[in-house]
This record gives sequence, structure tokens and C-alpha cells, in this order.
Amino acid sequence: MKKVIITGGAGYIGSHICYELLDNNYKIIIIDNLSTGQKKLVPEDSFFYKGDFSDPELLNKIFNDHEIDSVIHCAALIDASDSLNKPIEYYRENAAKTMNLIAFCANRNLSKFLFSSTAAVYGNPESAEVDEETYCAPITPYGSSKFMAEKFIYDFAPCTSINFGIMRYFNVAGADPKGRTGQPNRNATNVFSSLCRAILHEQEFTIYGNDYNTDDGTCVRDFIHVSDLASAHRIFLEYLDNKQEKPNCKNTPFLINCGYGHGFSILELINAAESLITKKIQYKFGERRNGDIEKIIASTDKIRGNLLWKPQHDNLSELIKTSLEWERNISD
Ligand SMILES: NC(=O)c1ccc[n+]([C@@H]2O[C@H](COP(=O)([O-])OP(=O)(O)OC[C@H]3O[C@@H](n4cnc5c(N)ncnc54)[C@H](O)[C@@H]3O)[C@@H](O)[C@H]2O)c1
Repeated sequence: MKKVIITGGAGYIGSHICYELLDNNYKIIIIDNLSTGQKKLVPEDSFFYKGDFSDPELLNKIFNDHEIDSVIHCAALIDASDSLNKPIEYYRENAAKTMNLIAFCANRNLSKFLFSSTAAVYGNPESAEVDEETYCAPITPYGSSKFMAEKFIYDFAPCTSINFGIMRYFNVAGADPKGRTGQPNRNATNVFSSLCRAILHEQEFTIYGNDYNTDDGTCVRDFIHVSDLASAHRIFLEYLDNKQEKPNCKNTPFLINCGYGHGFSILELINAAESLITKKIQYKFGERRNGDIEKIIASTDKIRGNLLWKPQHDNLSELIKTSLEWERNISD
């Protein structure tokens, strides 16, 4: 049976994709070096290979041992602020190694390749709602490294028979409602993980910047539940299969924004969390962080219109509840 490789499958988003595919009878193979991921997030029914996703020896072994149909490439360095201090690492891991992986896959006649990109490629957009045609001007090496990989995919696609999908994730949050997986990194700096840790350990939460040009002065984000994002990957694989059957459709990457199309400010997030836990959350305002974007919301016409994706968890309270349950489990 043909299989799907998920790079970074022991990480936060990758592990949710693994469960989504297994729940739908796919066979999956995970490549992860466990730099931020954790072995305990790897589902039992999967094949797991510990190593670097661009290691040709490892890839040879996997492609010789299994019949591979698709690759979902999630593995990356992901911290935009951190990338300002380590640009070389970010360009190497996210751009150069991705090129090596794709070049290898092309030689092994891969059918489909989904690339995990990010809303960070847009930088600080002129208007908050961005569609896939919006001009990209990333403001961090993280965003630039992902944009560089996207550009490579566009240039390479006409030279190969691989069908590419590029997914620009907005702010991913929440955890598997069945409690099987969640954010593995206890030091994750994203707002949901930080807020949950502050709630569970009764620590003060810091809001970075309250002088942005938004209704309440704090940043606004389009938060998407990780399980809805995971289902978008399964639907995208099916979409690319159908696309393959139509002539003249091949070899142009299909690019989609992955968000809900509406956003919440950080203060709105805190208010919703206070209502959920029926308790006040202690917070303070800190300086703006380098690399933070003021306000960004996805236009979702393509993901909803072309992929016919129907999110099941578009609810701020559920996002907070599932994140909190996961953080509570791992801190026990
Ligand atoms: N979390 C978000 O809100 C968000 C938003 C936009 C885009 N993304 C993208 O989604 C993808 C997954 O992010 P995540 O939040 O799950 O991060 P994560 O750190 O939880 O997952 C990344 C996984 O990749 C593995 N990894 C890293 N480098 C590797 C290498 N060279 N070889 C093999 N494995 C390697 C890590 O061990 C980890 O398991 C990334 O590409 C990221 O850029 C995430």
C-alpha cells in the first residue's frame, strides 16, 4: 500500500496530521530528529525514523523499504524572533534542506508534496486581510526562509511530475480533542502555550505591545485549530489526486491560506480564557517584540472554495479548552 511521509511528525502540527491520516486509513511514515518533537507523540500504527529529513542515506532507505506516494513537509525551525539571531540556521534548515528533500523526491517519482509555509511570508501587510495574491514582504529570516522555499517550489514544479501544494498556516492553536497529542515543546513561545502555562502555574502573563494600531492596541491574529489544519492536509492530498486527472493542470503549485478568516486580539483571547476558567488572569504589558506583526487575517476563499474544507473547531473557547487540557496533562 502507498504511504505518506510526514517530516516533523513528532512535532505539534505534524503529529496531528499523523492522527488525521491514520483515522482515515492512510499508512504513514514519520521522519523526525526530535530536536523539538517528542517520540511519545508518534502514533503506534506509524513507521518512525529518527533523523534529518534531508539525509540522503535515510531517504534512500525509506524509499527502498516503502512505496511512497506523498510527502507532507512540516519539519522546520519555527521561531520568528529566534531567527533574527540565527539567520544562517533558518535559511539552511528551512530553505536549503527543503530543496535537497524535493530534489531527492523528484528522482524517486513522488506523486504529491505538501509544504508547510506560514503567514509570516506576508510580513506586515498593508491591509489586514490577505489573500494568496497579496504581495509578500517577510520581516524575519524565518518568514524569508519559508518564502525562499516557496519560490524554489514554483521554479522547480514545471521541471518535475510532482504535484505541489503550499499551505500558508496562520496562527495554529489548540490540541487534539481526543487528547492523543498536543504541543510537545514545554518552552514553546506561542501565545496559547504561554497563556496556558501562566494559567496553570498562576504566573503573570506578558502581552508584548499595547500600542499597535488595532481596536484595543494589542496584536490581532487568525487562530486556527490544529485539528482543522490537519484535516485540510488530508483534503489537500485528495484534491491533488483529482487535479492529476485533468490535463494541463499539472506542475503549477496550488497555494492556499490556512486560517478561519477572522481574528482575535490578545486581550480578547485573555477575556475568553477568563470566562472559560471563571478566574482573573494576571497580566502585564511588555515592550513590542521584534518580528511581531500587527494584524493579519486570512482570506479563506481558496481553502473553502476549492478544497471544500469545512472547519469543525472554529470556536475560541474550544481552542483555549483543548490547549489547556493538553498543557495540564503534560505538566502533571
Ligand atoms: N505553529 C504554528 O503556529 C505555525 C504557523 C505557521 C507555520 N508553521 C509551520 O508548521 C510546521 C510545523 O510547526 P510546529 O508548530 O509543529 O513545530 P514543531 O517544532 O512542534 O515541529 C517541528 C518538528 O520538526 C522536527 N525537526 C526539525 N528540524 C528537523 C530536521 N532537520 N529533520 C527532521 N526533523 C526535524 C522537530 O523535532 C519537530 O518534531 C513548520 O514548518 C512551521 O514553520 C507553524
